[in-house]
Amino acid sequence: MTQLLTVSGSPSATSRGNALARLVGAQLTGNGHYVDHLAVRDLPADALLHADFADPAIRASQDAVASAEGLVIVTPVYKASFSGALKAWLDLLPQTALDGKTVLPLATSGSLAHALALDYALRPVLQALGARHVVQSHLVTDTQIAVQADGTVRLHESAVERLDAAVEAFSTALPYVSAAA
Ligand SMILES: Cc1cc2nc3c(=O)[nH]c(=O)nc-3n(C[C@H](O)[C@H](O)[C@H](O)COP(=O)(O)O)c2cc1C
Repeated sequence: MTQLLTVSGSPSATSRGNALARLVGAQLTGNGHYVDHLAVRDLPADALLHADFADPAIRASQDAVASAEGLVIVTPVYKASFSGALKAWLDLLPQTALDGKTVLPLATSGSLAHALALDYALRPVLQALGARHVVQSHLVTDTQIAVQADGTVRLHESAVERLDAAVEAFSTALPYVSAAA
């Protein structure tokens, strides 16, 4: 059993990525992990834009990261990179925030044209923050994911197998923590 954190980096109120993060979180909960969820869009915009490290909600998000052995970070692809909202939050984490942690980077995007964005843009930032193991990233396109009115998410069958493989690789890479620990 491992403490995990899913993070959605989309500023959108109807975010596919947020739904994807919830879906992956539910999968991981089903596998016996404890999973918390953080939507960056729910953090105070003032604190994010003014780099207010002392804001209580920002501090709580830092604590959530510190408590997690592994993180699933989901971002929309924006302008061939990850979202500015996610970057603003990552900028407020301590430089060693991801020390020893395992991270699965996921993205949703309009097309496959910028599939490399996770690896050339987000991965170096995660590694600069000390991540022990950034597992193979995975991108889901808008044609492969639909969010229903009730917030549930439907993945096209073409996306299911590869997402499951990414989640499995992440689970395997997590440090083992016994229930008694
Ligand atoms: C401002 C903006 C920039 C975008 N830039 C790209 C892009 O460069 N490449 C791409 O494939 N999709 C791009 N998209 C499409 C989004 O990545 C895609 O719709 C994604 O699923 C949105 O995720 P969300 O619903 O979680 O916010 C962009 C969308 C917006 C709103």
